[in-house]
Amino acid sequence: MGERVIPLVDHRTVGLAVPAASAPAPTSGLTDARGRPLRDLRISVTDRCNFRCSYCMPKEVFNSEYTWLPHSALLSFEEITRLATRFVGLGVHKLRLTGGEPLLRKGLETLIAQLAALRTPDGQPLDITLTTNGSLLARKAQALQAAGLNRVTVSLDGLDDATFRAMNDVDFPVADVLAGIEAARAAGLGPIKVNMVVKRGTNDDQILPMARHFRGTGVVLRFIEYMDVGATNGWRMDEVLPSADVVKLLQSEFALVPLQASELGETAERWGYAGADGRHNPALGEVGFISSVTQAFCGDCNRARLSMDGKLFLCLFAGQGYDLRALMRGGVDDAQLDAAIAAIWQGRSDRYSELRASLPADVQQAVRRVEMSYIGG
Ligand code: GTP
Ligand code: 5AD
Ligand code: SF4
Ligand code: SF4
Repeated sequence: MGERVIPLVDHRTVGLAVPAASAPAPTSGLTDARGRPLRDLRISVTDRCNFRCSYCMPKEVFNSEYTWLPHSALLSFEEITRLATRFVGLGVHKLRLTGGEPLLRKGLETLIAQLAALRTPDGQPLDITLTTNGSLLARKAQALQAAGLNRVTVSLDGLDDATFRAMNDVDFPVADVLAGIEAARAAGLGPIKVNMVVKRGTNDDQILPMARHFRGTGVVLRFIEYMDVGATNGWRMDEVLPSADVVKLLQSEFALVPLQASELGETAERWGYAGADGRHNPALGEVGFISSVTQAFCGDCNRARLSMDGKLFLCLFAGQGYDLRALMRGGVDDAQLDAAIAAIWQGRSDRYSELRASLPADVQQAVRRVEMSYIGG
């Protein structure tokens, strides 16, 4: 076991003051200090989850002693929609609802319906998606789709029950997640993606079974390198299985060809299953590799993250977020909100994953980081 670093400061209570905006928000072409646009907003709607994945919410920390945020701290649906509207005006065209487990937030369909009504400045609908552990999906897929959700991404770390139960640490069975994926497909919430975090020595024996299971089903399976997010998961480099090794393992059984990125700033490197002619066969589908540890992708990172209590984080590995809730509840108007968000984005230079390798181990350890369950994946 690696040494656990339990933070003494609760980073959730120390929001950054929003800088005073010296100019109105630009009407187009907003970029950060490294020239990166703002395209993707990830909105965390709850800090709770019914799983205790060891890499995200280890039981030793997220137990009955843990202080969850009170309901009054959470942004209301109206506040979330107001902020999302401002972000969309500034260039965002993809919204992802996350948590914790977003389906635990009561009445989520109401929020989705509000978000689905938004349009980009040139009148286009948004790409609205959700990351879920799938446990409540069989029950909710239909209503989510009816409310306006476009697609879902389901986390699933293995097909073997014992391994999956060891990963989620609450004895949750694989079959129920598979039923959730099936319900999502039946409801038309595609293309469905399945995210598998790979921990060397824990679930790497599930890589091939997962690939066999989803190949040819239309579901895009993505392998994620176990990351050093947060401060509670006891992360160790020797538990990371580099994506290059996963590719090699898959190639021992399947013919794979590299595919073009579908969007600038995409997290996953895509590979397609090849047919007998050696070319990508779309009917067999594709897999993705998210390699934040061995191949950082900060260069085009266009993702902003909003915590359930209204703080804006500029990087998954940031220690603090900007307190937009305080600003909103203090009574600013929309133009002031736009100017503030633009000023924050313009000041952004975060690129933690790129810098990680050059940081000495003790500095890496000491970097203040919020939990992923607080700002979402
Ligand atoms: P699609 O729009 O469906 O392609 O989603 P996405 O890949 O943008 O988002 P998703 O939430 O599915 O990301 C999958 C995983 O990639 C997350 O759970 C994280 O583990 C990781 N990830 C996502 N965004 C970032 C990021 O900005 N930085 C790092 N280091 N990892 C990220
Ligand atoms: N490393 C990589 N991905 C993580 N996630 C959570 N914690 C980690 C971690 N330590 C991601 C997984 C999961 C999503 C909700 O968050 O992709 O599917
Ligand atoms: Fe919950 Fe997802 Fe974190 Fe697992 S990874 S504890 S399912 S929020
Ligand atoms: Fe973006 Fe930070 Fe992830 Fe780099 S580490 S891709 S800057 S969120």
